[in-house]
Amino acid sequence: MAPPVDLSHHYASTTKRRVGSSIKDLYKYFFIPGIANLAGGLPNPSYFPYDTLEATVATPQRFQPSSNGTTKKSGDDAKSSMRLIVPKESHATDVQNRIDVATALQYVTAEGLPPMASFVRQFTRHHLHPNVPYAGGPDTILTTGATDGFSKSIEVFTNVWDPERDWISQREGILCEEFVYMNAVATVKPRGLNVVPVAIDTQGMLARGKGGLADVLENWDFRKGRRPHLMYTITIGQNPTGGTLSVERKKEIYALCHRYDIIIIEDDPYWNLQYPSATALEAQHRGSPIDTASGKRNYNAHGKSSGYEFLDSLVPSYLSLDTDGRVVRLDTFSKTIAPGCRLGWITAQPAVIERLARVTETATQAPSGFVQAMVAKLILGQQTERTSTNSSKSDCSWQMDGWVRWLEGLRGGYERRMQDMCSTLEEGRYIIATDAGLESSEESWEVVDKVQMYDFSWPTGGMFVWIKLRLDTHPLYGRYNPARLSKALWVHLTQKPYLCLLGPGDLFAPSQETLNRSWQYYRLCFAAMPEADVKDITVRLVDGFRAFWKRTDLDGLEGNGEDMSQVVRNMEKERVANFLGSGC
Ligand SMILES: Cc1ncc(COP(=O)(O)O)c(C=O)c1O
Repeated sequence: MAPPVDLSHHYASTTKRRVGSSIKDLYKYFFIPGIANLAGGLPNPSYFPYDTLEATVATPQRFQPSSNGTTKKSGDDAKSSMRLIVPKESHATDVQNRIDVATALQYVTAEGLPPMASFVRQFTRHHLHPNVPYAGGPDTILTTGATDGFSKSIEVFTNVWDPERDWISQREGILCEEFVYMNAVATVKPRGLNVVPVAIDTQGMLARGKGGLADVLENWDFRKGRRPHLMYTITIGQNPTGGTLSVERKKEIYALCHRYDIIIIEDDPYWNLQYPSATALEAQHRGSPIDTASGKRNYNAHGKSSGYEFLDSLVPSYLSLDTDGRVVRLDTFSKTIAPGCRLGWITAQPAVIERLARVTETATQAPSGFVQAMVAKLILGQQTERTSTNSSKSDCSWQMDGWVRWLEGLRGGYERRMQDMCSTLEEGRYIIATDAGLESSEESWEVVDKVQMYDFSWPTGGMFVWIKLRLDTHPLYGRYNPARLSKALWVHLTQKPYLCLLGPGDLFAPSQETLNRSWQYYRLCFAAMPEADVKDITVRLVDGFRAFWKRTDLDGLEGNGEDMSQVVRNMEKERVANFLGSGC
């Protein structure tokens, strides 16, 4: 295997000028047993007010995994929990094994708390991506989540462009899916980056065809600035579309990125939430032939195994194709533990991780020690034979097997929600049109016509269903402009008795061109609802659609200049089904 290529020509001018923190260089000496540390400006740990950090946590078996697309409810393990205690001081001599209050709450290097950092490194290199095809393999660095990881990657690879000051030929660009997670766009737009949408299908980014990656790059108009040297992409359970890019498509896109020297920033918060059942269930509901190839696969069959059947069965990252070392991957514990952890990591070739460490030193320094200690303790437990008295009750922990089992259980819970929402949406896609008007049942003897209100694909991953409205079938289509009709539908759904809050498509439009046609789409989040309520809430939503298709006017739906946030404020007192999801 060849070493990764040198990407330094893509570094921002600030990245090239960064030097390491000289005080952080001394940290490696801090842990020499018995050393009198007169060098660092470290507060005294005896003054930290926390004697221990304690929690009652789930056992890894709490949630039932999916099983070949069948729905299983949580078993006896659902209520089981365990206790963990992080002591004030661990007696572990090796800092790699020390999970204690005194160490976790002290200043650390940009690499973070050693046991946490080495767990992430081991999990990433040996289990998540066991087949990265460059010499030495990738390195990792902890972040405070994917948002932080993206912001730091952008800091490393882009220069700010100011139209008042700079030539257009200096303007840098970033490719992304034509509907995309908007926080990423909000990160790059103020820096003057040219955000360049690439056409998508139900899987994700297109390599070929009109508006696909090859088309965008081959026909690049240099009057808009430099051809993009970066790509931001969510390839699994794409936010907002729920698509998952096949390995075959990834190979095509990677080849184009190699040819045009593009760095791929892969944001993959939903990687463990892949739903192999979606394709087959969609086909079954629609009477289409079932693609047997979409069943369970072992993606590592021709390389090193991850050591876990579950991980081997997941569509792998771009890293598994990354012969050049041009992939910068963002991971997060936000969807696997909790968003409030603010913990994640970046995986990339070592030289890029080194630059990211320099950025980290002057930005976050490291993630919060509270979080690192609690997560490290949960997964790793105390890694030593002799612990302080406080930790004697707390030897149990998930370990790698438990962590992977936990991930599988989460996939099960979200997959069942996805199935419940999609089967209900599937049953409710049509309204019956008779000579007497629109009905929701076929009981009448008159000649009936089925009118489709929306279309969607079952999401193969993530937390969202992306629906496309068929407003062309609405009786008021033609009398009102469709964007106005769509906005009225959104307001109608927020009203009683439907009380459903949907994510309007314009929230995910990175360019004016996409924005102009974004009224056709809504994003529905199934993740935040209790599993038992998903069907009922979706029935309510479908009822809302039906009632809207029967409307003969838009009275009361257009407001008087009220914006969306005002509507949301008005809804605050009601029990609204939140399909929007929050924070994402
Ligand atoms: C695609 C994508 N990236 C990043 C995030 C935010 O991740 P984090 O909480 O780790 O910053 C989200 C949250 O919804 C997301 O959907």
